Amino acid sequence: MSTHISVPPQLLLERILTLELVRVTERAAVSAARLRGHGNEKAADQAAVDAMRRELNKLPIEGTVVIGEGERDEAPMLFIGETVGLKAGPKVDIAVDPLEGTTLCAKNMPGAIATMAMADGGTLLHAPDVYMQKLAIGPGYSKGVVELDAAPADNVRRLAKAKGVDPSAITVLVLDRPRHADIINGVRSTGAAVRLITDGDVAGVIHCADPENTGVDMYIGTGGAPEGVLAAVALRCIGGQMQCRLILDSEEKRERAHKMGIKDPKQIYGIEDMARGDCLFAATGVTDGSLLSGVKFRKDVIQTETVVMRSVTGTVRYIKAEHRQLDKFHLD
Ligand code: FBP
Repeated sequence: MSTHISVPPQLLLERILTLELVRVTERAAVSAARLRGHGNEKAADQAAVDAMRRELNKLPIEGTVVIGEGERDEAPMLFIGETVGLKAGPKVDIAVDPLEGTTLCAKNMPGAIATMAMADGGTLLHAPDVYMQKLAIGPGYSKGVVELDAAPADNVRRLAKAKGVDPSAITVLVLDRPRHADIINGVRSTGAAVRLITDGDVAGVIHCADPENTGVDMYIGTGGAPEGVLAAVALRCIGGQMQCRLILDSEEKRERAHKMGIKDPKQIYGIEDMARGDCLFAATGVTDGSLLSGVKFRKDVIQTETVVMRSVTGTVRYIKAEHRQLDKFHLD
């Protein structure tokens, strides 16, 4: 009798790999956390990249990085197009942001995370490392209740009406950047509140999915396209709406996007355009934040907190881990 258990690729991606993702983001978070508060963004980012890459290469997958640390020749590792994994197992697309919030980590401020997503091969948007306009709300609203091209004040009013509250009961999360002055003024003109963050719009978008607990109803603003795709995967798992558009404001950027298969440079992407297939999302806290606790270095234990989500079931797991084989982590 054969002892070989054949696991359908679908099951492998959706169930068995869930915990593997946790290991990957945990290792990246621990490596980055060692450099918290050292004022060196590059070193912390590199430490997270190295750890993530090492862990990804242990997984039984044929993975291609489609959202990575820059594009080939520009980034030392985990560049877009890099293949990862043991080259045995399901073909998957990988999106990584080994250290989301490099400045937050370097300054030891709240909200830095290590994050990644995995999806069926060929189903994630292949986006260049450019800026992206983003609009996100949580679940339970009819499609199109808010629109990327509507004025921020209109979106607040429309969302408030759909929620059955006064606009003054709405809170919009925005990255604190001079380029967002009009958005901030527009939102405030309705009586709604703006919550500003200095960095970290993957977590920012995720906040919209649970307004009861986070107090955030909507995310508006321009941030990185890689972060946009990662956030789309998370919302795909937990529900919500997102509309995004790449900012391809030069011939060179349009050319790069074109090479990645982007035909219409002005296309508005919904969640399903950015994450079409079954997907998994994981993030581990590096510094303490409102989504996740940061890494804790105790005498004989390292503690981490990770959230991992699956699109097939919409299951969201928060995993608090205590790592005791510290010698393994010292390799990171
Ligand atoms: P990094 O971790 O790469 O520094 O990104 C942090 C971040 O705040 C993202 O969350 C966001 O999408 C992007 O930077 C915004 O870009 P910018 O800082 O150029 O406005």
